[in-house]
Amino acid sequence: MMSESIFDVVAQAPEDPILGLNEAFKTDPREKKVNLSIGVYCTEEGKVPLLNVVEKAEQKILEEGAPHTYLPISGLPSFTSGVQKLLFGEDSALIKDKKAVTVQSLGGTGALKVGADFLAQVLPNPEAIVSAPTWQNHVAIFEQAGFEVGSYPYYDKASGEINFPAMLESLKGLKENTVVILHACCHNPTGLDLTQEQWAQVVDVCAAHKLIPFLDIAYQGFGDGLEEDAGAIRQFAASGITFLVANSFSKSFSLYGERIGALTVVCHNSEEASRVMSALKAVIRANYSNPPAHGAKIVGQVLNDPELLAQWHADLKEMRERIKEMRRDLADELKALGAKKDFEFVTRQKGMFSFSGLTPEQVQRLKDEFGVYAVKSGRICVASLNKGNVKYTAEAIKEVL
Ligand code: LMR
Repeated sequence: MMSESIFDVVAQAPEDPILGLNEAFKTDPREKKVNLSIGVYCTEEGKVPLLNVVEKAEQKILEEGAPHTYLPISGLPSFTSGVQKLLFGEDSALIKDKKAVTVQSLGGTGALKVGADFLAQVLPNPEAIVSAPTWQNHVAIFEQAGFEVGSYPYYDKASGEINFPAMLESLKGLKENTVVILHACCHNPTGLDLTQEQWAQVVDVCAAHKLIPFLDIAYQGFGDGLEEDAGAIRQFAASGITFLVANSFSKSFSLYGERIGALTVVCHNSEEASRVMSALKAVIRANYSNPPAHGAKIVGQVLNDPELLAQWHADLKEMRERIKEMRRDLADELKALGAKKDFEFVTRQKGMFSFSGLTPEQVQRLKDEFGVYAVKSGRICVASLNKGNVKYTAEAIKEVL
């Protein structure tokens, strides 16, 4: 007789829609294959880069020869203070008035998780709302933290643009204290961002309806530049309302495996900020005690050293411009091949992703017949294209249309 196990009730969970594909790609034996699934930037040679600036910062860390001690629960202070300057600007009043608190996190995902756990403790009936569509993990993170998660209109399939009036109307109808998850730049998966004028309206609605904005910024520097991409955050900062920001350095420093990001909570005043910080620390301590050090040391060095900072800006610019070139090349290749559909829209989208409009069936054919991996929603990571694979990718897309 088979022994009974308490795990008999555990159902087989589906593979993660993004990370699962990445794993499948690695074991695909075909020589000709292209991974456009996960949001990872690759060089012209198809490699994840070790940025010049990271190499230099690591050299300095090695020379210091410091022991591997614990970091404080909230993370490395030079890192968290650097994050605030990056998000709010060097001369931010928020920083001067100590209204914002920042804790180091395990990437942007970790920042969202700590923020969601914290908010779930504060709100009696926690509700959150995400853009339709959004990064799938937003829903999972907030649901696991005990939130009821809904969505607001964002992408309009018919026009391929943002349906801003519908988004705004939907936000106006939300209950007080609903957490509104917003992509501060380089929207994942659509690549479509609000204009600064539209952001101003979102800020007004959030203030008037007492909503809790939670800005996710995982791609700062990949849209128009570090300062430009922080435009939405700066507007919220100027509004005087409380809000949260989850940011990540996975992509902008190419430090994916170091799991380095931060959660920032903007409060009404410094006294409130101090209480909030104590609550965030309690969440972290009960989850993983304190964060890992290496990624924070790298980013902390760079954010506090003018020379390294300039190098980072240059490294980031190179990545940003190569992505733009690949967008152009993909649209041109598809046009030259006489594809059934016009892909010029790809050049107008921002960040690592393009919402290609491919159906799940077409995505499946891309994988099965050509070894081109994309997310089922039709999202492709244009940051993984290069001169060597863009033509092949375009040919494959043309074939499945
Ligand atoms: C993505 O959307 O591909 C990245 O943010 C990686 C991830 O964790 O899903």
